[in-house]
Amino acid sequence: MGQPGFGIIGCGLVSDFHGKGIGELDGARVVCATDMNAERAAAFAAKYGGEALATSEAVCSHPEVDIVSVLTPNAHHAEHVIRAAEHGKHVIVEKPPEMTLGKTDRMLAACRAANVRLAVSLQVRFRTAIRVMKAAVEAGRFGRLLAADAYMKWHRPTAYYLSDAWRSRREEGAGVTIQHAFHYLDLLLHLAGPVTDVQAWMTNLIHPEVELEDTCTARLAFARGAEGFLRASTAMYPGTDIRIELNGENGTAVMVGERVVQWQFREEQPEDEEIRRIGSEAAQTAATGAAAFGHAEHARLIADMLDAIREGRDPYVTVESGRQTLATALAMYESADRGCPVKVAD
Ligand SMILES: NC(=O)c1ccc[n+]([C@@H]2O[C@H](COP(=O)([O-])OP(=O)(O)OC[C@H]3O[C@@H](n4cnc5c(N)ncnc54)[C@H](O)[C@@H]3O)[C@@H](O)[C@H]2O)c1
Repeated sequence: MGQPGFGIIGCGLVSDFHGKGIGELDGARVVCATDMNAERAAAFAAKYGGEALATSEAVCSHPEVDIVSVLTPNAHHAEHVIRAAEHGKHVIVEKPPEMTLGKTDRMLAACRAANVRLAVSLQVRFRTAIRVMKAAVEAGRFGRLLAADAYMKWHRPTAYYLSDAWRSRREEGAGVTIQHAFHYLDLLLHLAGPVTDVQAWMTNLIHPEVELEDTCTARLAFARGAEGFLRASTAMYPGTDIRIELNGENGTAVMVGERVVQWQFREEQPEDEEIRRIGSEAAQTAATGAAAFGHAEHARLIADMLDAIREGRDPYVTVESGRQTLATALAMYESADRGCPVKVAD
């Protein structure tokens, strides 16, 4: 793979983040793009290069495409991922990997059979504050981890939900839990390990025009013993920065937005002073709008995928790991529907 070529399927909101990310990588280029809406594909190609093609098949079979980026709505990932794998292309798929574990497993099986790499775009795992938290967990600095919590108090106006049909249909992947909070639920699993049991409560506080939860509260039981709490909403005007908290018997770390706002351990290490300076208050983290975040983390995820292909290793964010987050989110929906705690499926 000399100059990696990308084929894009789905040229909506998130495609800008991929287009910009690819554009920043040495030698990488967009070869082609497609969208059900031909005007969107043409606009994407005009902005980021390559040609607009009529079908997903044309993108997946293009000889100059090495990696296909699947950026379609949540319930329409598997068909494109499987097609790309069958053409021998590596794949980056947007989050959540799919809407069911069965479709996710079919994507995984197709990529394994074709011996291609598959990454899921859970790019927040690359945030510097998260990377230092993960390293501290792995180094045992927290001792026994006792709590892992995420607070996502955001705002999306009704117009956001009505801007595209899929944004207001639960079966298509809409709803604050699977759509917005997915990243932060994923961070909790990334940091504290798999969740075995959940209890969730879901409600619609300010968006009566759509039949979705705009607010979710959940208690998570982690396999390693910690307890977690997730509060996620798109009802809270004007929205506050995302907050992730880890507390252990020997230390506490808190991220707000991209900043490390608390970093305190019984045993101070030389790097701790610098860690406390991570992040900037100016960085936008999507609290107030769907496109209000930077593309740097997408760029890191795409760069890691290229390194993974060159080095013959798994990408940093595998679909196997994103599948655990999906299983947890699906258990949360079941728990809220049934009104009782639910075990997370294997
Ligand atoms: N990683 C992130 O932070 C992040 C942020 C936003 C969205 N996303 C994810 O990206 C995906 C797309 O979200 P979006 O906000 O860009 O949605 P969008 O509706 O703005 O864009 C999706 C595009 O896909 C096209 N499309 C739908 N079905 C298609 C098909 N079968 N073939 C070709 N094109 C098709 C639509 O016409 C549309 O242009 C979703 O999975 C979403 O969860 C991730």
